[in-house]
Amino acid sequence: MTDYHEQQHAVFVLDFGAQYAQLIARRVREARVYSEIVPFDITAEEIARRKPAAIILSGGPASVYAEGAPHMDPAILELGIPVLGFCYGIQEMALHLGGTIPKTDIGEYGFAELTVVGSSSQLLVGVSETSQCWMSHRDSVGTAPEGFSVTARTATTAIAAMEDPARKLYATQFHPEVAHTEFGQQIIRTFLHDIADIPATWTMLNIIEETVEAVRAQVGTDRVICGLSGGVDSSVVAALLHRAIGDQLTCIFVDHGMMRLDEAEQVVHAFRDNFHVNLIHVDAEDRYLSLLAGVDDPERKRHIIGEEFWQIFFEEATKLEGVKWLAQGTLYPDVIESGNKHAAKIKSHHNLIPFPEGVHFDLIEPLRALFKDEVRAVGSELGLPDEIVHRQPFPGPGLAVRIIGDITREKLDKLRLADAIVREEISEWDTGREVWQYFAVLPDIKSVGVMGDERTYENPIIIRAVASADAMTADWARLPHDLLAKMSNRIINEVDGINRVAYDITSKPPGTIEWE
Ligand code: XMP
Repeated sequence: MTDYHEQQHAVFVLDFGAQYAQLIARRVREARVYSEIVPFDITAEEIARRKPAAIILSGGPASVYAEGAPHMDPAILELGIPVLGFCYGIQEMALHLGGTIPKTDIGEYGFAELTVVGSSSQLLVGVSETSQCWMSHRDSVGTAPEGFSVTARTATTAIAAMEDPARKLYATQFHPEVAHTEFGQQIIRTFLHDIADIPATWTMLNIIEETVEAVRAQVGTDRVICGLSGGVDSSVVAALLHRAIGDQLTCIFVDHGMMRLDEAEQVVHAFRDNFHVNLIHVDAEDRYLSLLAGVDDPERKRHIIGEEFWQIFFEEATKLEGVKWLAQGTLYPDVIESGNKHAAKIKSHHNLIPFPEGVHFDLIEPLRALFKDEVRAVGSELGLPDEIVHRQPFPGPGLAVRIIGDITREKLDKLRLADAIVREEISEWDTGREVWQYFAVLPDIKSVGVMGDERTYENPIIIRAVASADAMTADWARLPHDLLAKMSNRIINEVDGINRVAYDITSKPPGTIEWE
C-alpha cells in the first residue's frame, strides 16, 4: 500500500489501548504536524529505522502493574528522540527509568486544578501558575526517576508533570489532548515546535501537493475508476484524483433514486459541469424500485441496495478499456480500526469489494492518512461546494433506511419533500452547525385527522434532529417550539398525504439516530 505521507517530520503516537490515541494524533495534526498511531510494542530498532521527529505515549486503561499490561520497549527512551508521555505514559516512563508508582486507592477523575511548580519547565512555558486540567487515573508517580524535575502538581497528585530536558523526556499525569485541559493544546505545541523543533508544515496545500505527486507516481498513465456516491469521502477522492490525473479518471455515479431532494443533480453539476470530470451517471431508480417492491425487512433492503450497487458499478466499469485502478475513500480511522481485532464488529459497512469472477482492479486510497476534518478541508481547498463538503452523514442506502416498510416512488417523493423542508428550516436556524444531523422519517402507519371539513386517514412524518460529537452517542436536539411549529405547518400544507408531524425525543442509547 502506498504511503502518501512518508514524512520527514512525523510524530509517532504509541497506543496503549485507550481511546485517547486518535485524539492525540488529531491534536498533533491541528498543530500542523503529521502524526501516526503505532502499536505500543513497536521496537526501538523499528523506531530508529523510521526516525520519527518525536514520540508521544498515550494514556491507557490498565495499571502498569496489572498482569498483561501493555509495556513499551524501554530502549525507545534512550534513542535521543524527544518523548512526551500522558497519563499511563508518565507511569511507563517512571517504571522503566527507576521512579516509583505506589499503589493507592485514591484516583483522580475529571477536572483538577493544576499548579505549576518552579519556573524552569520547558514543557509548561506560558501555562498559568494555576489552571484547569483533566485527570483520569488511579495510580500516579510517587518519586520521579533520577534526572527528572517535578514541574506541576494538583491537590491529590504530587507529580502531575515531570521532565528531564537533558534526555528530552517529558510527561504529564493529566491529559493535554482533552479540550477540558485549559493549556492542553499549547503544551502539545510547545513540545512539537519548541522542544522537538518540528516545523508546522502539515497544511492542506501540502497534503494536496504530496498526494497529487504520490498518485501520479503510483498510477503513471493508467486509467482509474471511482465510485461516486455524493458523500464527502468519495467526492474528495474524485476531486483529488481529478487534480492529479485529469482525464485518466472516470467516475461512476450509481443513482439509486434514494437520495435527498436535488442531491443527484448537485453531484452531477459539481463534477461534470464544474470540474469537467469524465462522469458516468447511471439513473437506476426504476431498476431499484422494481427490486425493492414489497420488501419491508430493513436488512433485506440494505442487502438488495448494496448488491445492486456493485452489480451496476461493475457493469459500467468493465465497459471501459484499460482500467487498472479502483479508487476508494478509506480514511485514517478506518485504517486504524482495521488494524484492531474488533474491526469487523466496529465497521460493518466497510465491506470488502465484491469483485465479480474474472474482474480485478488494484486499489488506490489517497485519503488513507487523513482524518475526516482534514478530508473536508482538502475538499474545500479543491473547490468542492459546501453542500458536499459539509454534508451530514447519510446512509449508503439513502432514504430507503428512513422509509419504514416497503418502498414506493410515491413514498420516496413524499419523504423527499418533507425532508427538504426539515433541512431548509433547521439549517436556517442552526447557523453555527450545532445540530449534528437532522432529517425526516416516513413510518408505515396511518392515523385519522381532519383537514378543512374532511376527515383524513394519512401517514405522519417524524422529525429527527440530534446533537452528537461522533454519532456513537447522541441526544435529541432541543429545537425551539416555534421552529417545530413552522416545520409542522409547512409539511402538512406542502406535502400531500401527510396529516400529522411528530418529533422524536429519544437519545442514543437507547435509540439509534436512524429509524429503519
Ligand atoms: P445509528 O442509526 O446507528 O447511526 O445511530 C449512526 C450514524 O451512522 C449513519 N449511518 C450510516 N452511514 N452508511 C453510512 O455511511 C450507512 O449505511 C449508515 N447507516 C447509518 C447514521 O446516519 C448516523 O450518523
